Amino acid sequence: MWENIEVALEKTPLDKLKKKPSEDNLGFGVHFTDHMYLSKWNREKGWHDSKICPYQDFQMNPASMVFHYGQAIFEGMKAYRGKDDQIFLFRPKDNFERLNTSALRMCMPRVPVDLVLKSLKALLYLDREWIPSAPGATLYIRPTMIGVDPILGVKPSDTYLFYIIMCPVGAYYPEGFNPTKIYVSDEYVRAVKGGVGQVKTAGNYAASLYMSEIAKKAGYTQVLWLDACEHKYVEEVGTSNIFFQIEDELITPPLGGSILGGITRDSVLKLAQSWGIKTVERPIAIDEVLAASKDGSLKEIFGTGTAAVISPVGELMYKNETYIINNGETGVLAQRLFTELQAIQNGYGADPDKWVVRVC
Ligand code: COI
Repeated sequence: MWENIEVALEKTPLDKLKKKPSEDNLGFGVHFTDHMYLSKWNREKGWHDSKICPYQDFQMNPASMVFHYGQAIFEGMKAYRGKDDQIFLFRPKDNFERLNTSALRMCMPRVPVDLVLKSLKALLYLDREWIPSAPGATLYIRPTMIGVDPILGVKPSDTYLFYIIMCPVGAYYPEGFNPTKIYVSDEYVRAVKGGVGQVKTAGNYAASLYMSEIAKKAGYTQVLWLDACEHKYVEEVGTSNIFFQIEDELITPPLGGSILGGITRDSVLKLAQSWGIKTVERPIAIDEVLAASKDGSLKEIFGTGTAAVISPVGELMYKNETYIINNGETGVLAQRLFTELQAIQNGYGADPDKWVVRVC
């Protein structure tokens, strides 16, 4: 049934095409391309009225369920202008499969992965001039699904919109690839096992804002969340997963239900293993990290994510004490992973697992 979905094409008139921003100062998620993908779902027709169309505002009923009960899921992926000016995606099916896992947990419909990927490729081709070529600049892609029934009773919506918007971006953090300062939250938590911490749903990000603002005011870029029960074990940074190199082991918290299963996280684990580095997915207590920092066995900390790529951590703040990591500098392993990942994503590196998909 899904193979028969038709995708219409409505091009933006030439005189309405936007002026492209300078690649020197793209910021993150502030400029949007000329087109988007849009599809509707209801119980009778499934996905229908699918189209690639001009980037546009929605007119929505103020009672739409997404505004009240938060049925909203999304993905983050990127297109890269790489080798020989070709355009690449990185593990795109994994993103759409993860979106479908999120959909299941949030009582939302699955998207047809192959068709949506095909549509994304067409959208990228249409807006290919928007894909930056400056080093480190990419086109960020945001597939999103929302429940839109105009009904205030609490239940899963019977109607949905799925759309894909795209924006040329630079580094996610103002620091770029330079080490970030991270505030460890010992009071507020992000997610609890059995909840929706492993789901890429809007509410997880809303829940993180209060503590993130406190951290920002104290001069920190991001929050490192601890587990919700004991406030003891490290979870994730919210915009990225987290890795610790202690002695010669690369350690990251396991995917126990409260942590997002990052695609960059998985890629880093596989890359490090292929280089002979011992990787361990296990609960790691903040006290263990800080003890390793004090005795010198903690070599590096870095975050991983689509937006953040590899994000070295230069400082931790926990209970009013600061801990400088790797002299506040980017570590050797973080640098190697960043360089290799970028090489693969841009079509230059060896790609034994076929992570890279050429668009055009
Ligand atoms: C991503 O890394 O793509 C994310 O979705 C994280 C953040 C920008 C919300």
